[in-house]
Order: sequence, then structure tokens, then C-alpha cells
Amino acid sequence: MRYLEAGSGRPMLLLHAFPLSAEQWLPQLSRVPSGWRIIAPDLRGFRGTGPAFDDPGVEGATMEAYASDVLALMDHLDVERAVIGGLSMGGYVAFALLGLAASRVAGLILANTRASADSPEGRVNRDRMAALVLKEGPAALAREMLPKLLGETTRREQPDLVHVIDHLIRLNAAEALAAALLAMRDRPDSTPMLPTIACPTTVITGDEDTAVPPAESEAMHRLIPQSHFVVLPKVGHLSNLEPRGDLWKNAATAWISI
Ligand code: MLT
Repeated sequence: MRYLEAGSGRPMLLLHAFPLSAEQWLPQLSRVPSGWRIIAPDLRGFRGTGPAFDDPGVEGATMEAYASDVLALMDHLDVERAVIGGLSMGGYVAFALLGLAASRVAGLILANTRASADSPEGRVNRDRMAALVLKEGPAALAREMLPKLLGETTRREQPDLVHVIDHLIRLNAAEALAAALLAMRDRPDSTPMLPTIACPTTVITGDEDTAVPPAESEAMHRLIPQSHFVVLPKVGHLSNLEPRGDLWKNAATAWISI
């Protein structure tokens, strides 16, 4: 398993969104607050690392399998407990990890993610996207997804970031992306888990997130007992990457405030 790491102190594992990779967390890895150690793994198959869920095992990917890999990485690094942060698909993996080993989660950051399962229409769309990426490759997926991943302000004001995200998506293998799409299609509803979450939790969204609208994040926050809620202005779905200038200050505060 490939992972990026920076800082030393209390461990925080950051789990990337679909269809990105550990590089998504470079802004956080380059500004680690004192006293923290940030570890950002690639989920299985992303960036071509480790065995993908290879054909016909593409069907075998699950959020639990990704979470088991993360727990194995924690074992490998002698990390008994960590703050687990997940953005979007990373959040789905965080829910799976909580289900497998809640005692190893010291705190939670749930960014731009949802607890509910896919709707019937959403599941059909996952099949369409998986077929698209297997037929036409990651570039086709990037074309479809970019407008939803980045907020309107970012797309207008940070064209370089649009290119970086496009590049990161293209570095992934089509099979790994298809596997993840099917795993997201089949993930369970984690909503019943929300009132049982016992660790400090921060729920983060961006006010321009159209993939997981802020109202949905707020509803999730209301169901988690010890949670607080942060809305980042002029930011879309990739809320850890999009803030710049003064916004970084607010984002950094949000990310370490649990
Ligand atoms: C993500 O950003 O990880 C994806 O938008 C999640 C999803 O498609 O459900």
C-alpha cells in the first residue's frame, strides 16, 4: 500500500475521494499543525498501487475491503488509534472502518460525504460510469466528473487546479476506478450508525458542493451526538483542495478543531 506521511504526534489518517488518490491531501500534508502526524494512503488499486480488485474480481471491491486495508496499514505503522478523516468516498470508507473497529477511531472528520446508500437511479448511474471508464478510460470519467467535483468559484478562478485534478484522475487505472464505482453502488446505508458515533466528529461541507449538498451534510451532523458543522464559503465538493488565501486559515481551523 502506498501512503504519504508528514509531521509527528497524534495520528490522523486522511482517506481520499473518488476518483483521486493520496495526492489529494498535499495541501494538508504541507501544512501539518504542530503535534499531528498525517498519513494519507491510496485506497486499493488507486494510482496503480497494490493489487487491484482484478478482473473478474472487480466485482469484489467493497467499502469494508478498503477499510480493512486501512486497518492493516495502521497495524503496520503501530498506530492503535487515529483520527480518521474521509472526504466523500473516503467518508464511506470511514463509516465502514467504524463498523469494523470503532475502538480504533479517536475522532472523525466527515467531509462532503453522506451516510445514505445510493438511490436506485444512482446505482444505475454507477453501472453506466463503470462501463464508460472501462471502455473509454479515466479521461472520459474526468470529463464527466470535473464539473461536479469542483465548485463554481474554483472552476472560474483556479483553472490550474482543474488541470491538476484532471491529471490526478488520469493517473488511475480504469479497472480500479470501475471497482470503486461498483463498491460505492453496493455500499450499505450507514445512517443507523450516526446516533451511535461516540467520538468527537467534525462534519465539513462547501457552500458550492452540488455532489453532496450542504443541507444533507447538516442533516447528517444533527444525527451525530458530539459533532460540529463547518461550511466553507466559495468551496465545492473537494473542500480540502479548493480554499485559498484567507480561506486556508478557516479550512485549517476546521480540519483540526475536533
Ligand atoms: C467522491 O467524491 O468520492 C464521489 O463523488 C463519491 C460518490 O460518487 O458517491
